[in-house]
Amino acid sequence: MANVAVIGAQWGDEGKGKVVDWLASRADVVVRFQGGHNAGHTLVVGNQTYKLSLLPSGLVRGKLGIIGNGVVVDPDALLAEIARVQAQGLTVTPDTLRIADNATLILPLHGAIDRAREAARGAARIGTTGRGIGPAYEDKVARRAIRACDLAEPDTLSRKLDELLLHHNTLLRGLGAETFEKQALLDGLLATAPRLLPFVEPVWERLDGLRRQGRRILFEGAQAVMLDVDHGTYPFVTSSNTVAATAASGAGVGPSAVGFVLGIAKAYTTRVGSGPFPTELTDDVGRMLGERGHEFGTVTGRPRRCGWFDAAMVRQAVKVGGVQGLALTKLDVLDGMQTLRICTGYEVGGTRIGHLPAAPGAQAAARPVYEDVEGWRGSTRGARSWAQLPAQAIKYVRRIEELVEAPVTLLSTSPERDDTIMVRDPFQD
Ligand code: IMP
Repeated sequence: MANVAVIGAQWGDEGKGKVVDWLASRADVVVRFQGGHNAGHTLVVGNQTYKLSLLPSGLVRGKLGIIGNGVVVDPDALLAEIARVQAQGLTVTPDTLRIADNATLILPLHGAIDRAREAARGAARIGTTGRGIGPAYEDKVARRAIRACDLAEPDTLSRKLDELLLHHNTLLRGLGAETFEKQALLDGLLATAPRLLPFVEPVWERLDGLRRQGRRILFEGAQAVMLDVDHGTYPFVTSSNTVAATAASGAGVGPSAVGFVLGIAKAYTTRVGSGPFPTELTDDVGRMLGERGHEFGTVTGRPRRCGWFDAAMVRQAVKVGGVQGLALTKLDVLDGMQTLRICTGYEVGGTRIGHLPAAPGAQAAARPVYEDVEGWRGSTRGARSWAQLPAQAIKYVRRIEELVEAPVTLLSTSPERDDTIMVRDPFQD
């Protein structure tokens, strides 16, 4: 039985929530493998709107949700999110949610460091979500992180907090920010432990069992390839690897278990936070895309920057992310526009290149090279078959397929789950 990994192919917010929800209805288990509560997925189910940050989206469909070891977990944020969705009528118990015992925890000091560092950067700030994601991953690779399993060992917690505070309080003092008291942090963790530990286990073992039973696994990526800490627009990236290969290491399965890799891309481009964005539109067209597409961040509410579809960038994301098929979303936002532009490459210092360069100076200097495409008059909103699409809209989609070198396997035409044109079922081998 094939599994599926879903990753963003641009800078995040591509509409993964709807696609993941749609695929979750065909899966048995949904696994988060990287990121943390910096992610934001909006799911519209019937008359309820769920805003999920850390919980795997399948929970909304009654599917088992797993938070893998590659995720950084803020216990307070997780428990608050559980309480929020339970108030909306969902049930979250250790039968429906499992958390990797080797997942790294985010503590209050991580958010404080994140925000203090951003403030110190001033105009050069990354535009992080301020939720402590970067500092928590730093602690993980520095081998001083507190992990979910440590909650069961008060002595380990006490010892690790000494090491953490030595490091972080020094930094916080240097940044002119408030420092943290060990006892308050320890008390907080010990109070959280009995609420979190019932969810904690070696999830790799459960996943191995599920695989042997032939269960369908959906790996739910957060953020997107261009925010990948290696492959994205560094340093304006998140602190985890967001490519599909991470689904294996971030969940505790082998690479062959990941299955079909579906990349999600909007029919145009958006970005929140700072960093290069060659096709950004700061004019009325950009504002119109933002208004029509309701482009405001799920987590922070920040307006998203908007621009034309960047095929050169998505092609790069397809290659490094391992994308085998593309789900194209929000085509309807382009309805009625006379001419559309697609970026096919860049010009950097008079030289034409087909990919976003790695060096920050070259990235900032990259100017888009456009191809103009005729728009369409009719509506694509709510279409459920190719026959319902205007001919020019189909041409636009076909041109994108050619340029990004990946087939469009799903087309989403409204926020409603069933307004989807499926070309190929990603779970089919
Ligand atoms: P961090 O992940 O909070 O460290 O933020 C680093 C960068 O990633 C910032 O530009 C954020 O705006 C961006 N980012 C993080 N999570 C998301 C997301 O879920 N969607 C879009 N951008 C994100």
